[in-house]
Amino acid sequence: MNSLSKLKFLCVVPTFLSLGLLAPSCDNANSAPSQTTGNTVAKTAIAPRDTGLVQTAADTDAQKTGTATQSPNYPAADMADTTVQLKRAYRNYFPIGTAVDSKMVTDPRTASFIAKQYSSVTPVNDMKPVNIHPSENVYKWAPADKIVNFAVQNGLKVRGHCLVWFYRMPHWFFWDNGQLASKELLYSRLDSHINTVMSRYKGKVYAYDVLNETVAKTTETTQYSRIDTLYKIAGEDYIEHVFRTARKADPSAKLFYNDTFYDEAKRDKIYAFLKEMKAKGVPIDGVGIQCHIGIDGMSEELLSNSIDMFAKLGLEVQITELDVSIFNREAKAKTVANDSDDYTIDKEGKQSDIFNMVFKVCRQRKGVVTGITTWAPADINNYLTKRLGKRNYPNLFDNNLKPKPMLRKITDFKAGQ
Ligand code: G3I
Repeated sequence: MNSLSKLKFLCVVPTFLSLGLLAPSCDNANSAPSQTTGNTVAKTAIAPRDTGLVQTAADTDAQKTGTATQSPNYPAADMADTTVQLKRAYRNYFPIGTAVDSKMVTDPRTASFIAKQYSSVTPVNDMKPVNIHPSENVYKWAPADKIVNFAVQNGLKVRGHCLVWFYRMPHWFFWDNGQLASKELLYSRLDSHINTVMSRYKGKVYAYDVLNETVAKTTETTQYSRIDTLYKIAGEDYIEHVFRTARKADPSAKLFYNDTFYDEAKRDKIYAFLKEMKAKGVPIDGVGIQCHIGIDGMSEELLSNSIDMFAKLGLEVQITELDVSIFNREAKAKTVANDSDDYTIDKEGKQSDIFNMVFKVCRQRKGVVTGITTWAPADINNYLTKRLGKRNYPNLFDNNLKPKPMLRKITDFKAGQ
């Protein structure tokens, strides 16, 4: 083996390993097929990096328009275990869900893929107040109904997302003849919304994100809540109010507080908030940790300690919006404008380690962790491409709805590990 190919070999092996795949052995990387895994591995491992992947307009369009084409940009595509069935691998642990919209569940190919691989669905946008209740006396039920009916027909669970989120409340909620609505008027509108949505989906939606992303970043406020319009009208009282209303509306539904954190400071603020709510007897059954992770990762210690802390408050924990971007978490369209969006085997390797860490930490906390939901069924459905204006591959299945190599490690685990 000449020095250049030895160098390539040395930088490929760690990524093979992190993909949970068997790495080719040293003495035949160049020539003969590898001892361990037959000939495909060796050939594919070397070739993609050498060709220096080029951006294909078709690929970007495919992601932007959601039309699946065979993307040449999956460096380790043929190392994936195409037989994998994600939900089956976790049947003794917890439901594995995904975020969907009405188009995905009505497209026959995508719908059968979702029903095969996932055991739970979350409406990514169609159940948000601004979309389902666009004006005071108008409910737009059809998109959310399609998702719930699809789930019922395929024996899948449904997580409702979300009943109240400052960022996605329709304008009319807060105004009364050009004046800011009174607390009483706001509460009657919140009650009507929560009662109407929850009674429609009673027995079909088993859990709701009653409140999403209410706790402010630590630096912003001394109190818990953001200074949004809900808070301006009602102070922090509205938090307790909406959970009590939701409990009455459907006593059988599990009520979650859903949020995101990537440092101990924000996590500690959410913990203190939930501890105080529980101490006041506010009916909160669980906490959703979103986990929109960047290629710069999330500390295993932060995630595992956080789940253990929330569990001590008597809360169940779910990972509710998991994805791993090929860019750093703080990435913005302008900050990545000049960055490559090629999907390299390094990026895929790093993603694999991050996904595997999250699934392992959750397996080890079976019983406390009651579900993992990814924020799109496959790369072709991801929301980051639109947001960052770059191709992205943040999910477990590729643009062609095929399992990605990282699924091997996530599904091939010893019981209890
Ligand atoms: O449907 C309209 C379309 O008719 C219109 O032409 C287009 C114009 O931009 O907008 C479309 O609505 C967009 C919608 O996604 C559907 O694509 C909204 O503008 C856009 O803001 C909305 O973004 C969603 C975002 O939440 C805000 O609701 C993302 O898809 C969704 O992935 C994202 O999800 C959030 C979770 O709910 C909460 N946690 C963070 C997570 C990621 O931001």
